[in-house]
Amino acid sequence: MSDGMKVVVVGAGYVGLTTGSVLADFGHSVTCVESNQEKLRLLSSGSVPIHEPGLDELVKKNVEEGRLSFSGSLSAALADCDVAMIAVGTPSLPDGSADLSSVWSVVDQIASSATRELLVVMKSTVPVGTTDEVARRLNAAVSQDQGLTGGVATPGMGQGTAPRFHVASCPEFLREGKALIDLVHPDRIVVGCDSNRAAQLLRQLFAPIDAPVLIVDRRSAEMIKYASNAFLATKISFINEVATLCELLGADVHAVAQGMGLDSRIGQKFLQAGVGYGGSCFPKDTRALLHMAKQAGYDFRIVRSTIEVNERLPLRVIEKLEGFLGSLSGRRIALLGLAFKPETDDVREAPAIFVSRHLLERGASVVGYDPVASGTFHAEVPRVEIAANAHQALQDADALVLMTEWDEFRSLDLEEARRLMKTPIIVDGRNLFDPSAARKAGFRYTGFGRGADRDKEGR
Ligand SMILES: NC(=O)c1ccc[n+]([C@@H]2O[C@H](COP(=O)([O-])OP(=O)(O)OC[C@H]3O[C@@H](n4cnc5c(N)ncnc54)[C@H](O)[C@@H]3O)[C@@H](O)[C@H]2O)c1
Repeated sequence: MSDGMKVVVVGAGYVGLTTGSVLADFGHSVTCVESNQEKLRLLSSGSVPIHEPGLDELVKKNVEEGRLSFSGSLSAALADCDVAMIAVGTPSLPDGSADLSSVWSVVDQIASSATRELLVVMKSTVPVGTTDEVARRLNAAVSQDQGLTGGVATPGMGQGTAPRFHVASCPEFLREGKALIDLVHPDRIVVGCDSNRAAQLLRQLFAPIDAPVLIVDRRSAEMIKYASNAFLATKISFINEVATLCELLGADVHAVAQGMGLDSRIGQKFLQAGVGYGGSCFPKDTRALLHMAKQAGYDFRIVRSTIEVNERLPLRVIEKLEGFLGSLSGRRIALLGLAFKPETDDVREAPAIFVSRHLLERGASVVGYDPVASGTFHAEVPRVEIAANAHQALQDADALVLMTEWDEFRSLDLEEARRLMKTPIIVDGRNLFDPSAARKAGFRYTGFGRGADRDKEGR
């Protein structure tokens, strides 16, 4: 590709590694810089440290074709580079705010190492105003430099008065498990910037993507990301509140969601009731938005309620199990699905973590199985026994709790499951199973909001 750019992606995690691989596949020359030595070792030896469908092949292809490489040194990678994309983690601090320490460490390194005109793109989800502050810091570093060198431009910078850094916010909206599809076919590309040059460079970077490009100011771009995630999280908490009411009033949330979703103003998506959302984005981004609002002197009530509703859902699993079994002490509970959603090995804030902790606190023993996330889960909750497959997890179990709607659980042989288990109970945290099929197989079954099933035991 004649207009291929030299790109550095900082942070080779779920966002950075997928984005870097897709940009390399577009024809750009990409270096992913990663500070975690174990991840870097794996990547450099040809292994992909995360599970994301299609990623292994894409990485391999682009490494072999010479467009994708990995490095531990940001300053070395920045030499000759046109674009530096920041994709490091921004996890929650105890007060709910976003921890920006990785972001600032990268920005400081860019400020001290960059030697030419550079577009700095913020892919990490950062609070409103952060990317403005990044621009301020980088430009302050340039002014300081020019002060020291008497205003003489560094070679490669162009005119002495030209800004050295262009800074843009370009929030990422990909879904883990579908990251590669989402990166190539996004609903939109949001660009927050204050110069035509930044917008032009970003258009060049994403040229092969056929999607609307919305150019706004940096603060609005950052807010679009938080508002989108908070809105989606609210949709989930809303349907979960409806589900609870369905149980109390004898309606079926499946039918209700279908009827609501047929209204084109509402839509079918994000109306699946269950044990709620988890993952590395919705929980931390809703908390960060709430914190941002609080800092600005505003109580964002809807987002606060969204969080509260979601945080209570793992307890509802416990209440449902106790409704069937009474005390859970000494009971063996099988969790099917440990990742926060299917097609990923990511367990950050996975509902399965909270459910297992509640179960362990009540003296139950917990056995879990997940097609790809067993390893990452075990590192989080070592007291949970890990089974090699679903049948092994169900052996002698007092209840099956379905936590993640992996496809392989859809075809679970319920008759066989019934034979393996000590007590035939299903708490279906994703409303995956057909209640009548489960009952026909001899189970006592409850889902979330399936009040029309009239299974009073599980409440
Ligand atoms: N995961 C998602 O689905 C998703 C979607 C949209 C946006 N985001 C946002 O993107 C950002 C990254 O998320 P993620 O899930 O990819 O996180 P991640 O933890 O998977 O990856 C971050 C990577 O950055 C590395 N890193 C940290 N500091 C570094 C440094 N100084 N130099 C080089 N590497 C460094 C870490 O070792 C890690 O590998 C977050 O702000 C997140 O909110 C994530």
